[in-house]
Amino acid sequence: MTAPANAPLSSRGRLAATLPVEQLAEISALFEFRRTGYSLDAPFYTDPTIFKLDMEAIFGQHWIFAASTAELPEPGDYVTVDYGPYSLIVLRNDDGGVNVLHNVCRHRGARVLTEAAGQTGNLVCGYHSWTYSPEGNLIHASAPGEAKFDKNCFALKKAHGLEVAGLIFVCLAAEPPTDFYETAKIFEPYLAPHELAKTKIAYQQNIIEEGNWKLVMENNRECYHCDGHPELACSLFPTWGLTEGLIPTHLEEVWERNKVAQADLEARCDRYGLPHQVVEELDTRIAGIRISREALDGDGESFSADGRRLSKKLLGDLRDFRLGRCSMHLQPNCWFHFMSDHVITFGVFPINEHQTLVRTTWLVADDAVEGVDYDLDKLTYTWKQTNIQDKAFVELCQQGAASPAYEPGPYMKSEYQVEAFINWYVHRVQEHLA
Ligand code: FES
Ligand SMILES: [Fe+2]
Repeated sequence: MTAPANAPLSSRGRLAATLPVEQLAEISALFEFRRTGYSLDAPFYTDPTIFKLDMEAIFGQHWIFAASTAELPEPGDYVTVDYGPYSLIVLRNDDGGVNVLHNVCRHRGARVLTEAAGQTGNLVCGYHSWTYSPEGNLIHASAPGEAKFDKNCFALKKAHGLEVAGLIFVCLAAEPPTDFYETAKIFEPYLAPHELAKTKIAYQQNIIEEGNWKLVMENNRECYHCDGHPELACSLFPTWGLTEGLIPTHLEEVWERNKVAQADLEARCDRYGLPHQVVEELDTRIAGIRISREALDGDGESFSADGRRLSKKLLGDLRDFRLGRCSMHLQPNCWFHFMSDHVITFGVFPINEHQTLVRTTWLVADDAVEGVDYDLDKLTYTWKQTNIQDKAFVELCQQGAASPAYEPGPYMKSEYQVEAFINWYVHRVQEHLA
């Protein structure tokens, strides 16, 4: 873990302190009188001030999924990660750890690195060539005849970075929430056998959805709408989120098939010593999590129309392709599917109150060869289609939230994880405002 040298970056209370009293009271009331079991009031999705509050209270305080190890395997590799007003450099250092630096030059504030990813030694600002070490220290700032100044006072600002089981998280708070370490202990044993550090990027997709980040997350937390995903429905049992007694007649046959497949999968996991139990603490801890291993339909190997593998190379030390999907949701900005043959990571990066970047990354074994071990179009087909469909759903909701006719509607039972996400969100912001 990296320690921030320029703390505190915490903006706790900053927005609250600058808002007119009436506006703050109005916003606080929106949180306080949120109707449990119902979608949020329109301003949560449309109001720039609430977006600023989200950036401060959620994205400025909690651990945010930034990238996977495969995106920066070697010293000097970096990715830039932008959300809200922030731009961060996540850089692999010579010790094998990650440095997380604010991508804001200490001279006049220019973005230092402008590419989404790359390789670098020292970091050179393109404006007047101020040069920083990979640790962010200012090592060169020359100008003819310039009076001396203390370079030590002008290092790039640092944030926290943490790498767990091949996933990299960042936190802007001066003191990150320590509960995340407990959450990491929960998910590490599920992910470790997939050995994400030995994967490579097969493909990365960035799409901008015309919707508030919370609508993106809400959409992901339920499968009530999954009839709208014909490609996904081939491999995913469309009974997700349902429980015995809630199964509609047209899904009874699927439900039975799912039960058999799940029992087989669990027996297989037990044989290999792979954890598969559902852990669901989406709003009962600060670093909310849901993780499980669930059967896939058909052959049960991967996200293909017949459930067959999409890459011939098994990940890590796995010995069987029929391992379904180990799926993980973390609050506030990510979800993942870990299969035997590939991994898909999803990161949600808010741009403003009505636009959100969704980054999807497909990872395969680092020795898998495109065109030999996997066909890229087939590997990415299901989730590319699903992402397009989800983008449309999110955008319909954003349009609705902007209408004076919008009012919150009730979540159905199968949408309990949407409710958990909103619950989590409301409580975290209220804690921040307290
Ligand atoms: S703004 Fe970066 S060197 Fe001037
Ligand atoms: Fe969806």
